[in-house]
Amino acid sequence: MTTIPQADQYAVMGNPIAHSQSPRIHALFAAQTGQNLEYRAIRVEPGGFAAAARAFRAAGGRGLNVTVPFKPDAWVFADVLSARAERAGAVNTLSFGPDGVRGDNTDGPGLVRDLRDNHGCALAGRRILLLGAGGAARGVLQPLLLERPAQVLIANRSASKALDLALRFTDLGQVSGCGFADLAGRVFDLIIHATAAGLEDAVPPLPPGVLAADGWCYDLMYGHEPTAFVRWGREQGAAQSLDGLGMLVEQAAESFHLWRGVWPKTAPVIAALRGG
Ligand code: ATR
Repeated sequence: MTTIPQADQYAVMGNPIAHSQSPRIHALFAAQTGQNLEYRAIRVEPGGFAAAARAFRAAGGRGLNVTVPFKPDAWVFADVLSARAERAGAVNTLSFGPDGVRGDNTDGPGLVRDLRDNHGCALAGRRILLLGAGGAARGVLQPLLLERPAQVLIANRSASKALDLALRFTDLGQVSGCGFADLAGRVFDLIIHATAAGLEDAVPPLPPGVLAADGWCYDLMYGHEPTAFVRWGREQGAAQSLDGLGMLVEQAAESFHLWRGVWPKTAPVIAALRGG
């Protein structure tokens, strides 16, 4: 008699979580690579992350993805952090092993892979403007700087937060911070949007001419309709104005690889998600 091995258990924890695409993405990865795993979405109440993660692990769970608002809690929860997660101050991937809980952050690598590998956007030598200085911006800075851009300027509503954030990364490359008003007369090859203004379908106040003639725009957010920043990029005549769906799938692939040791193909999964 043959027994069917029980599927390894994974989940994403966040709040809200109902609209998370992660279960669908990981189910597609698992089917494609023949991995026997189950992946579900778990809504966790504020303040309840550590208890929920502990319970999931105690029940045999192998790993977790972590999304808003619990990435800083996961950073604290991990026993060991990757260098990029340490810098990010946030963890989106937990791996439960015999030696403890390992925390990583695959958001930044996901962004770089989508831009560089999926869209052929070289980052080396480019002038990059990063809008926002919150958790999302901080999460992508190290992988961006490791691509050796000419510079990364962080612009934020409160300039002091941009300056503080830049100071944490100056050992990795040319990075500085400013307010939106300081952008007049500056030109960038790539503008990455990482503020929460998109939640109100708005874009930060940007001066005309801030995007180079053949420049690119990238919004970390995505939606069924083009985001406000994607629309702004198109209005500026961007060579490409992209949303963050590709990044979402790429960060999931990085997590999948950390857990399972195999790389899923992302292009068919991105296409499936775009298809609805
Ligand atoms: P996240 O994890 O999404 O980055 P966060 O850490 O709360 O969330 O950071 C939100 C970011 O969006 C900050 O950079 C914030 O600017 P301030 O630091 O000045 O608050 C930015 N932000 C939020 N609403 C904004 C708006 N309407 N216009 C421009 N920036 C906004």
